[in-house]
Amino acid sequence: MPEPNQAAEVKLQEEFNRWAQEGKGEEMEDSHLPIVPPTLELMNLQPDDRVLDLGCGSGWLVRQLTGILSNGSVTGIDVSDEMIRHAQAATANLPNSQFLRGTAEELPAPANSFTKVISVESAYYRHDPARGLGEILRVLVPAGSAWVLVNYYRDNPDCHQWGAHYKTPAHLLSAAEWQGLFANAGFRNLQHRRIPDLSPTPEVYTGRWFRDAAQMRRFKAEGALLVVGVKP
Ligand SMILES: C[S@@+](CC[C@H](N)C(=O)[O-])C[C@H]1O[C@@H](n2cnc3c(N)ncnc32)[C@H](O)[C@@H]1O
Repeated sequence: MPEPNQAAEVKLQEEFNRWAQEGKGEEMEDSHLPIVPPTLELMNLQPDDRVLDLGCGSGWLVRQLTGILSNGSVTGIDVSDEMIRHAQAATANLPNSQFLRGTAEELPAPANSFTKVISVESAYYRHDPARGLGEILRVLVPAGSAWVLVNYYRDNPDCHQWGAHYKTPAHLLSAAEWQGLFANAGFRNLQHRRIPDLSPTPEVYTGRWFRDAAQMRRFKAEGALLVVGVKP
């Protein structure tokens, strides 16, 4: 019988392999794109940064970052081997990039590997977010920083209904709770802020994530939660 953590990892992997097979990895580029450029600007990326994109999905952000990190590198890690296969297929021949299958709770990278870690819409799926943050701290160099963006968080009531649609457990934490996890993991210089999604909202919404277009509009105006911490 697999250990409880192994069982959770297998479930996550199966669920996100299904997403990858259904083409959702590529679709997420469109839905997550509006909250990423303001975050990259705050990160003040330098050409020689070594960046980890944790929970990289189909790898669109890794491909974007290779253009910025001309003397550095970018690594995408994801628990879903199917996402990693899609990412690798779409990224052939791009210099300074690599993809690895691995879990946030046990990152396949030596200590002090990265100057910055970004994670877009992935941290609340982790079966053990505290352990994931401990791992991020381990793989960062001293003075390196972690940038965690989540759209599903307690302070934005217009996303709470998503919980009913998830097939694996998801953590609905407040900004203060995320910041507490960062602090317990050993991060310092903690900050959190909202990153509003300024893209146009359709007049009529027919999907299953929002009640109607008005709720989607409110959700986007409130914005994603960005939590930042620095390794001492
Ligand atoms: C909603 S998708 C976001 C993907 C990508 N960051 C994007 O914005 O398109 C969440 C991703 O996080 C990955 N993920 C979830 N839990 C993980 C874990 N514990 N370790 C590594 N990756 C994980 C999933 O496999 C999935 O690809």
